[in-house]
Amino acid sequence: MRASRIAGLGHFVPERVVTNDDLSQWMETSDEWIRQRTGIEERRWVEGDVGASDLALPAAKQALAEAGIEASELDMVVFATLSPDINFPGSSCLLQAKLGVPGIATLDIRNQCTGFVYGLAVADQFVRTGMMKHVLVVGGEVHSSGLDISTRGRDVAVLFGDGAGAAVVSASTKGSREILGHKLHADGTHHDILMLGAPASGRNPRLTPEMLEEGLHFPKMNGRAVFKHAATRFPQVIVEVLEAHGYGPADIGMLIPHQANLRISEFVAKRLGLSPDRVHNNIQRYGNTTAASIPIALHEAVQGGRIKDGDLVVLAAFGAGLTWGASLIRW
Ligand code: UT7
Repeated sequence: MRASRIAGLGHFVPERVVTNDDLSQWMETSDEWIRQRTGIEERRWVEGDVGASDLALPAAKQALAEAGIEASELDMVVFATLSPDINFPGSSCLLQAKLGVPGIATLDIRNQCTGFVYGLAVADQFVRTGMMKHVLVVGGEVHSSGLDISTRGRDVAVLFGDGAGAAVVSASTKGSREILGHKLHADGTHHDILMLGAPASGRNPRLTPEMLEEGLHFPKMNGRAVFKHAATRFPQVIVEVLEAHGYGPADIGMLIPHQANLRISEFVAKRLGLSPDRVHNNIQRYGNTTAASIPIALHEAVQGGRIKDGDLVVLAAFGAGLTWGASLIRW
């Protein structure tokens, strides 16, 4: 079996900065509440008609340039998002068209905050078997146009930001940035603690004025329940992926946790005995960008020189589904 590596990375966030104080114009909230509970100081929100694939395009182009390949050399585009440009077809098809490479395979991943880790694992398998040589994996999200920014939706609206991150996964006969493995999990019995219920095929009709009035087209979350599950699952899956390869938390060079809440990341770091220089957080500036958060944070950590050649890097995610997972990379 071949090995695969991360040959290139890229990320993109919209220009518009929305601070916590900006949010308090539209809802009853405060900078103090948001910072204390989540660590978030500001996030990026799109303006006008911008979809997930629009944010993904510049991120993808950067990743391709870093990998030193043309889009025409890709075998597949994998797109992880919970906020597709349109209901169907998936954003992978839209991005493939924008990249100008009709004909290659496309695949959409519906695993919310864990979407990028699932996408990376899928790409890794296709490359390892020899079926494909280069796969683009993208996490891209536009949350801002789908949030209830009134006081009714404040518990969710203050958390989310827009952005995209991308990685090119390429075949390699060992070398730097080698993907070592993954652990993937889900527990659908808790699907209702973080969900967006309408419009959807489980309702007939799918959308009514009453549903809109009730706000069923906005995401709903039982924050405390999600927090509790996240605090358990993050450390579990990190240790699981490490142990599967003969390592332990002490071997981690850099942990890139999904940016759900700074308090969760701090809790996880403490549980694993990791000092702050071994965990990369950027939720302060971007909020929670769900499937985009890990590739954005990974690329920033690399650009900032926080990851050194040879470091053992762990990507770890947890989110709606519930879904959780981790990937291990030797940088
Ligand atoms: O990406 C993965 C998915 N997401 C997560 O991992 C998020 C996990 N959960 C969390 O991070 C936290 O539960 C939150 C940050 C979302 C909320 O923190 P909390 O300490 O669990 O707050 P709470 O929901 O229990 O609310 C406490 C109070 C309530 O008021 P009362 O009932 O005590 O009077 C809320 O109405 O805070 C109120 N509240 C707010 N106040 C100001 C809720 N949202 C806000 C807000 N601003 N934005």
